[in-house]
Amino acid sequence: MKVGIGSDHGGFEMKQQLAKLLAADGHEVVDFGNKVYDNNDDYPDFAIPLARAVARGDVERGVLVCGSGVGASVAANKIVGVRAALCHDDFSARQGVEDDNMNIICFGGRTTGIAVAWDCTKNFLGARFSGADRHRRRLAKVTQLDANRSPHADDRKEFQAVGPE
Ligand code: RB5
Repeated sequence: MKVGIGSDHGGFEMKQQLAKLLAADGHEVVDFGNKVYDNNDDYPDFAIPLARAVARGDVERGVLVCGSGVGASVAANKIVGVRAALCHDDFSARQGVEDDNMNIICFGGRTTGIAVAWDCTKNFLGARFSGADRHRRRLAKVTQLDANRSPHADDRKEFQAVGPE
């Protein structure tokens, strides 16, 4: 599968490890950065391009890592068509796809060990949306919210939209 991966400094080490494991497992890995460790980088700079690539279909699924996994999931979910979630267990990693059509999985590089993250990643990539009526009905209620969001908004507008409150 073509899989995008990205992280800030908080998830850099885990991203490097997961990228190697994914490649060894036969996946085509597209690295959205950060490509080098930078203690001052910001997770939206990697989460947003990866989320856009998933939404466009340039990559089939995404794996995002930051320190806690929270910032990465918050940022990715701002992109129309993305269903990202922070996972710590293989049940959620698999069911998140089967029931909720999750297309980006997020990890905390400072909170989750690599063995658990890899186990979750394998479950995530191995799962398919069930397409069951009840799940389609629930997802339709969520995606209805996208009607007022432009998938073509440029970065400036998006950053203005989350400005100081
Ligand atoms: C960066 O220090 C840290 O805040 C970030 O990686 C992430 O944990 C945010 O949710």
